[in-house]
Amino acid sequence: MSQESSPSTAVAVARPLQDSAADALSAAVDRAMLAPSLHNSQPWRFTVHADGLDVLADRTRHLTSIDPLGRELVQSVGAALFNARVTLAAHGWAVDVQRCPSPDDPDLLAVLHLIDGPPDPGLAVLDRLVPRRRTNRRTFDATVPTAAELRSFTAAAVAEGSVLVPVLTGEQHRLVARLTQEADAQQRADPAYLAELARWTSRAPAAGDGIVAAAVPHVDGSATDDVPMRDFDTRGDGALPPSSGMGTERTMLVLGTRSDGVEAWLRSGEALQHVLLTITQAGWAASPFTQCLEIPTTRTRLRAGLTWDTWPQSVLRIGHAGPTGATPRRQRADVVSG
Ligand SMILES: Cc1cc2nc3c(=O)[nH]c(=O)nc-3n(C[C@H](O)[C@H](O)[C@H](O)COP(=O)(O)O)c2cc1C
Repeated sequence: MSQESSPSTAVAVARPLQDSAADALSAAVDRAMLAPSLHNSQPWRFTVHADGLDVLADRTRHLTSIDPLGRELVQSVGAALFNARVTLAAHGWAVDVQRCPSPDDPDLLAVLHLIDGPPDPGLAVLDRLVPRRRTNRRTFDATVPTAAELRSFTAAAVAEGSVLVPVLTGEQHRLVARLTQEADAQQRADPAYLAELARWTSRAPAAGDGIVAAAVPHVDGSATDDVPMRDFDTRGDGALPPSSGMGTERTMLVLGTRSDGVEAWLRSGEALQHVLLTITQAGWAASPFTQCLEIPTTRTRLRAGLTWDTWPQSVLRIGHAGPTGATPRRQRADVVSG
């Protein structure tokens, strides 16, 4: 986007030019498809209209073993919705967002309408970061963010009606580590979980989805991390180093919402993506590790011990690490109609 400036005064505030609605909506869908999702399942669909966009859940991509309620499915769609909002702002458009607008159509999670008015400049600047964000499962070094950086990550969550709780004390670190170990062990003892994981780590390349070996650590039993990352290396060909570097001294963040239902899950996905793009903007790497939220008892205990009046919706580790490549995405034609 270029910027226009007033010919009459040197101090006038620049206002972005507005691209055509069709171009802006097309770009918004392209960016929405780059969102993070559970096991890269990309459980979304979009219908483009002349003046807006419908954002829908694709329940054929529901991972029913790990996510029986569909909480993480809806959260993934929320992350895609956030990307669409960001890109529409970057193309000069203000947007009205209706979330869960139709009780008769639970798959219709959001309706976006282009409206008159200035676009949100705070969102527009995040657009260029959307293709740069990655889930980075490399070994993180031991640096920790400054207080100012942590405040900016927290503000990103708050802007989306959510909260971000940094895991600061040794006791809190041990709690997250213990609950993640416990949840991870329970999941790994569940044949249905393992079968689902195997399906989403051995997708045909043409499918354009799932977890690829290039994006996951090689698991050979040598890692001694206090907080176990999810073992995606089901075929033994994981390409990244075995250790996440996750000692209990590393920075972890828990994202939470005040309520816990479909709309809260959607908002938590928007917040997750706002936080991840802000982390990317600040030059940090991040990856979610959400096992302890997928077992009801460990999720409840995390809430009781750490987030109190908010429901934990995501757990992230952040650090510095080398780059990782882009993960596959489905064909646009399979995801977009209208
Ligand atoms: C709801 C949700 C839960 C996730 N849980 C994990 C997790 O436990 N471990 C992990 O390594 N990545 C997790 N991820 C990251 C996804 O695997 C990742 O977004 C997906 O593979 C696409 O890769 P990308 O983020 O690099 O685009 C999660 C993402 C979402 C949205």
